[in-house]
Amino acid sequence: MGFFQKLWMLKPLFKDKAFCRLPVILTTLLGVVLLAFLLRTYSVSPMVTWSFDPTDDDFQSNYKILGSREKPKLPKQNELSISLEERNRLPPRNLDLFPNLHKDHIKIVLYVHNRPKYLQVVVQSLSSVEGIGETLLMVSHDGYYDEMNKIVEGIRFCQVKQIFALYSPHLFPVSFPGVSVGDCHDKDDPSKKNCRGNPDQYGNHRSPKIVSLKHHWWWMMNTVWDGLEETRRHSGHILFIEEDHFIFPNAYRNIQLLAALKPKKCLDCYAANLAPSDVHSKGEGWERLIAEKIGNVGYAFNRTVWRKIHTKTREFCSFDDYNWDITMWATVFPSFGGPVYTLRGPRRSAAHFGKCGLHQGQGEKGICIDNGATDIEVEETDKVANIKPEWELHVYQRQVGYKAGFKGWGGWGDERDHQLCLDFADMYHFRDTPSPG
Ligand SMILES: *[C@@H]1O[C@H](CO)[C@@H](O)[C@H](O)[C@H]1NC(C)=O
Repeated sequence: MGFFQKLWMLKPLFKDKAFCRLPVILTTLLGVVLLAFLLRTYSVSPMVTWSFDPTDDDFQSNYKILGSREKPKLPKQNELSISLEERNRLPPRNLDLFPNLHKDHIKIVLYVHNRPKYLQVVVQSLSSVEGIGETLLMVSHDGYYDEMNKIVEGIRFCQVKQIFALYSPHLFPVSFPGVSVGDCHDKDDPSKKNCRGNPDQYGNHRSPKIVSLKHHWWWMMNTVWDGLEETRRHSGHILFIEEDHFIFPNAYRNIQLLAALKPKKCLDCYAANLAPSDVHSKGEGWERLIAEKIGNVGYAFNRTVWRKIHTKTREFCSFDDYNWDITMWATVFPSFGGPVYTLRGPRRSAAHFGKCGLHQGQGEKGICIDNGATDIEVEETDKVANIKPEWELHVYQRQVGYKAGFKGWGGWGDERDHQLCLDFADMYHFRDTPSPG
């Protein structure tokens, strides 16, 4: 429940009989203020201090796996991080223009770092998306950058909420999760140089710029599903897009269709995707639905799937690859114990245009932009929902790509990063008070 809705609920109390209830109201208010003060004083980081639901089975099984009921020891926040935490609590913008979210809406999370020219293109593309005004767009920022903020603050086509990754290495110039004095660099030998850090499988020490990618994704997932008021009770799908994903006008209607068709057409589909897993493909153009491996462009899934991912926290956090997606393909999905597919249409509704991707081992071909201009063509058929429920399903069974057995590209060897990642998974699941049972 948002801040404004809460105020709204208090209103009727004052309308009638307010006079004789005044002492009760005052006492209640005092209690609330006192409680709020105590919570502010004694909680260091979480946006929501209390999110434990003892009736949640998945939650309890997560706990057994993580083996901890302790409050995680997150890094000490600096001023910037604390001020951003305040900002993360602000209600969505544009509530005046879009006071209500539609029933059965699919929330959208756009995660970004610092490529304003790209973000401009993505936001422009989102502004033409049919149905966008029905939902909430959350923008998750890795680092704090004025130019990026200006673009997001300019959005008027739907409710928008910004969140900032509070432990991004980009917010900590002189301490962990950034670099601190005494850290090893590159291929330093810790015993010879008396420096701090664990090298990855290729002998390289952590680079904050690189580990920030996986940290941001994991922090964002945990925060969106389990932390934020606006989303932590959302029972439907959430669609995830990135700052270099061009979104077609029919994307929202198509992802709604796919999410609804998923349980009927494809029992092994955990997600729905807006684009093929091969980011260079525009789709087959067939009159069929397609099941294939989950791609990293425009993917949507629900809370059941998030719970399942969350139970694989150890796998996710210890795998020596700084790419969240490769980590998912090589460790998390294979550990589900069965086929894992996504459902998509035969024609893409989103396109990756990023040129400066950090993925190692991938070429630099594909559609790219330099000055904010893209050469992605939007045709008439991309403007309206173009998926038919009566289509049959085509399944790609053996696809090339990262899978179980892949050792990882490295960049994720430092135990401090593993621990921070484990702590993100716990940060909304600890108990402040002793257990009642
Ligand atoms: C979420 O999606 C999964 C996979 O498609 C499905 O099995 C599950 O029933 C869905 N959960 C809800 C609550 O709809």
